[in-house]
Amino acid sequence: MSAGSARLNLQGAFAAGGDFDAKLRRLLSSDVEFIRLIEDDLVSAGGKRIRPRLAFLAGESLGGVPHNMELALAVELLHSATLLHDDLVDDADTRRGREAAFRKYGNAVSVLSGDYLLSRVLAVLAETGKLELVRLFAEAARLLAEGEVLQFQVAAYRDYSEDNYYRIITGKTAALMTAATEGAAILGDAAGEARRALASFGREYGLAFQMRDDYLDLMGSADVLGKPVGGDVREGKVTLITLWLLAEAPAKVEPLLLRRQVSSADIAVLRSLAEERGVAKRVVKAIEKRVDSAISALKSLPGSPARAALEELALAELQRLQ
Ligand code: IPE
Ligand code: IPE
Ligand code: MG
Ligand code: MG
Repeated sequence: MSAGSARLNLQGAFAAGGDFDAKLRRLLSSDVEFIRLIEDDLVSAGGKRIRPRLAFLAGESLGGVPHNMELALAVELLHSATLLHDDLVDDADTRRGREAAFRKYGNAVSVLSGDYLLSRVLAVLAETGKLELVRLFAEAARLLAEGEVLQFQVAAYRDYSEDNYYRIITGKTAALMTAATEGAAILGDAAGEARRALASFGREYGLAFQMRDDYLDLMGSADVLGKPVGGDVREGKVTLITLWLLAEAPAKVEPLLLRRQVSSADIAVLRSLAEERGVAKRVVKAIEKRVDSAISALKSLPGSPARAALEELALAELQRLQ
């Protein structure tokens, strides 16, 4: 496949009413109305569709792979299932700018519709006929669930550390991004260096993505984010920025993190401290390092528009505001 057509194919997959959305909708159709409503809501609200983009670009970077669409659908479906479950356990108000599903349809319907999505993941993986891909997704789902549970365990024990932070985000976010990119290598029977390069890109990019997300949670603009800042602190979740603030100014930060009710004034104090003490800048530097290492991981792949688009995706994490 020529480099030019690689780009065209990708645009086609995501064009309004394009293949990807139509196939996603078909996979989600059910004659149970509540399931249909919840899935419709999630799909029409959109989302950035980063994981399927990763899957398509990884496939294109190898010159095209069979069943790339099924891989893209599987990662987006698994991601959507985790969002239904995540919003419930995080008691979130909104998702993709809309009221969180469990608030509208109730806990039971939301959890069980998440399970329905997982059944669709298995169905679409089976379409590929690749046992190794199923194994990769089983591992990603295991790490994802472990990461989400570990996050609550760490908050309960106040067992805050950089090691725990990286283990949590590797599981809850980077594992699925890795499945998107390494999955393409499996579909293309690419072993050795190409597979390692794509797996490593997915992991480093996924870490940078979640680190940026966590940074914005405290330092972002509420207007742009579409939700109040400081959600992680209110939920008792310590991310890199609060971890380093804790080390920098324990007397000021510790009592605030231990408080049950955190006010917007408390959040404002943390934001100013992060600026004044240079902690916000340090976190941005740490994200830059991850982005660099994601880009370096691709060095062994031949140059192509798809590889360049993966690099651009990573660079965008230096500026993402929502
Ligand atoms: C949200 O992921 C969950 C995190 C890993 C932070 P995205 O930010 O990719 O969510 P959508 O799909 O664009 O809504
Ligand atoms: C969500 O993590 C990550 C998942 C993989 C489920 P967060 O809880 O930190 O992300 P948001 O803020 O809900 O998107
Ligand atoms: Mg959440
Ligand atoms: Mg969460």
